[in-house]
Amino acid sequence: MHFLNDGEAVVMNKKKVALFDLKSEREKSLDIQTLDWKMEDAEKGGFPHFLLKEIVEQKNTLPKTGQINKQEFQKIAAKINEGCKIIMSACGTASYCTLAAKYFFSDLGIESEVYGAYEFLPFARFCNEKTVFIAVSQSGETADTLIAARAAKKQGAYIVAVVNARGSTLERMADCTLPVGAGPEIAVLSTKAFTAQTATLYLLAYYIKGVPEKAITKLDHLGKMLETWLTQNLLTRVRELAKSLMDHEDMYLIGKYLNYPGCLEFALKIKESSYIHSEGFASGELKHGVIALIQKGTPCFVLAMNDEVRNEVLSSAAELKARGGKIIGVAPFESHEFDIHVKTPDIGKLTFFPNVIVGQLLGYYLGIGRGTDPDKPRNLAKSVTVK
Ligand code: AGP
Repeated sequence: MHFLNDGEAVVMNKKKVALFDLKSEREKSLDIQTLDWKMEDAEKGGFPHFLLKEIVEQKNTLPKTGQINKQEFQKIAAKINEGCKIIMSACGTASYCTLAAKYFFSDLGIESEVYGAYEFLPFARFCNEKTVFIAVSQSGETADTLIAARAAKKQGAYIVAVVNARGSTLERMADCTLPVGAGPEIAVLSTKAFTAQTATLYLLAYYIKGVPEKAITKLDHLGKMLETWLTQNLLTRVRELAKSLMDHEDMYLIGKYLNYPGCLEFALKIKESSYIHSEGFASGELKHGVIALIQKGTPCFVLAMNDEVRNEVLSSAAELKARGGKIIGVAPFESHEFDIHVKTPDIGKLTFFPNVIVGQLLGYYLGIGRGTDPDKPRNLAKSVTVK
């Protein structure tokens, strides 16, 4: 692989690949790099769609994050431990990853700020040499994310790129890169890159605290739990659920703390894949307006886990149920508030991952049921290279 830089052009024929500098028109030598991606990673491997294949691959891509980038993690952790402030920024799914990371960081007593990259510029002035700016992007080519990272760099910030695609513009401008190693993500919807990016930032928190083994062990355990949970049984269960929800035009989701970004991502997967209107909310927001939307039979997803806010979320579920909402619990435990329950593995805060995976699968099966192309939804591009 040679990654083209600005101002370079290539002439290719059967015999030769020649690289040129556009200004001088002189031939240059190729800077060839070897990627560890395999050909079969970019094929469907027996699955009907890339999206389904990439969802199922998370059994392997998630635990893999613990095995790579050790030196880079240490380098970034050292920088942060020098007293640098952390700012994270991204767009779309990648921005929900940064929001989840903010909760993971806070759990370990690490402060961080999060901005949608398209809203970052008014705040770029607060970056300086004591800022570690973490830009998260599957493609590394998202225009708004690049603009935000450039603005932070101009202020003297140390730029960290958390990327999946290699050799991207973001990677090239960063001071340090954490490649997440999820392999090629072909479907327009981000799934395995999202979880690998989030797991990478989860690991970074433990590296900052000097106890990475703890996170690596937990991610290994997560991988094992996914092996036994993310099976044909689950796929059939979610497909049946999708059939029962197919004709609804609005769905709402609630969650608290880590399940809040989980809800945002779950809702985005449903929107992108099936074009059904779905909105995720922090459960605390319900009473402040959202509850007015709930009518008899409105599908309401409740994302929960065995954490410190489990009961608060269940009492919000009871409020939705009292207004006639059809409550679909996505959680490791049963509850009388749930009309339908999709059980996820009970793995502490890492239940975040299987809870989101249910949303990825549901989006996929809703899309199939409604006749969309889940790999290439209308109006969307894999990388948004314009402002
Ligand atoms: C994800 O399913 C979306 N298609 C989209 O939100 C995407 O995450 C966003 O455009 C950011 O892309 P990036 O990760 O390549 O920067």
